[in-house]
Order: sequence, then structure tokens, then C-alpha cells
Amino acid sequence: MALLLRELGYPQGTDQQTVHWVISHPEIEIFVAGDAQDRPVGMVSFSHRPQLRLRGRVATVDELVVSEPWRRRGVGRALLAQVVERGRVLSVKQLQLISPLASTPETRQFYQACGFSEMDSGIFRHAETETRR
Ligand SMILES: CC(C)(COP(=O)(O)OP(=O)(O)OC[C@H]1O[C@@H](n2cnc3c(N)ncnc32)[C@H](O)[C@@H]1OP(=O)(O)O)[C@@H](O)C(=O)NCCC(=O)NCCS
Repeated sequence: MALLLRELGYPQGTDQQTVHWVISHPEIEIFVAGDAQDRPVGMVSFSHRPQLRLRGRVATVDELVVSEPWRRRGVGRALLAQVVERGRVLSVKQLQLISPLASTPETRQFYQACGFSEMDSGIFRHAETETRR
């Protein structure tokens, strides 16, 4: 997981404590794609929670990455298909993702190919939290 997160552009990856926190959280799920030897080649994490105005559940794709040598072989599409299917089971009313990387033409094309369309979302981040990495 740490190696895949590095490929996503987070050189420090993650730490054991956060991995335990995430995998024991009842409203966060992770799918990992493996090769024939069960080595991880891609992962997607997503979280879901009830939202008042939707009168139901909203889900967010939090992290998605496919290892470089495995790109353009359908792994990312398959991982997102798992999330969509899980969303159906959970009766998710809205599935969304927020990603600075989604602004590159390639990732935009990828998300569009997987059924997502770009919203005019106006996302703001509090300046103080920028430094809490
Ligand atoms: C974005 C990413 C997850 C895509 O995963 P992937 O396994 O390579 O994607 P797939 O092979 O399933 O592609 C599915 C479709 O998306 C589109 N697509 C994928 N990568 C593309 C690219 N680089 N350029 C144009 N279209 C692309 C194509 O339509 C493709 O179908 P096709 O290969 O039959 O033409 C992967 O490139 C990645 O990990 N990138 C770095 C991290 C990142 O950007 N993460 C997402 C933001 S958090």
C-alpha cells in the first residue's frame, strides 16, 4: 500500500497506525488488485457516510492508483467497477471523487471512460490544514 501511495505522489506513503485505523473503520473500504503471484498492482480506497440532504448515503473515492507497468490494462476500470458495485449493495445515492490529479487530460479521460462526469464543485480547503501533512 505504501509503495502504491508513493506512485500516487505521496513519497512518505503511509504508516502502520493509519493502515490499522483505515482498515478497522466501518465506513472505509479498500480493494486491492493483485497479479498472478498476488502482488498488489493497484488499489482503490473509498469511504461512505449518511448525508442529511440526500436522505441516504454518499460515497467518495479517496485514493486510486495503478502501478505504472500495469496501466492501460483495465485494472483501474476494474477497481472502479468494484466500487460502483459495492455502492449498489450499500444503496449509495451519490458516488463522487475529488482529485487534484483528475485535472490532467489523461485522468479526466479515464474517469469519463469509467462513467464519471466533472462537476462544477467549488472545493475550498482551510489554509491551516495545508500544513498538517
Ligand atoms: C488513472 C489510473 C488509475 C488509470 O488506471 P488504468 O488501469 O491505467 O486505467 P484502465 O486501463 O482501466 O483504463 C480504462 C480507460 O480509461 C481511459 N484511460 C486510462 N488511462 C488513460 C490515459 N493515460 N490517457 C487516455 N485515456 C486513458 C481509456 O479510455 C481506458 O480504456 P482503453 O485502455 O480501453 O482505451 C492510473 O493511470 C494511475 O494510477 N495514474 C496515477 C495516479 C492517478 O492519477 N490516480 C487517479 C487520481 S487519484
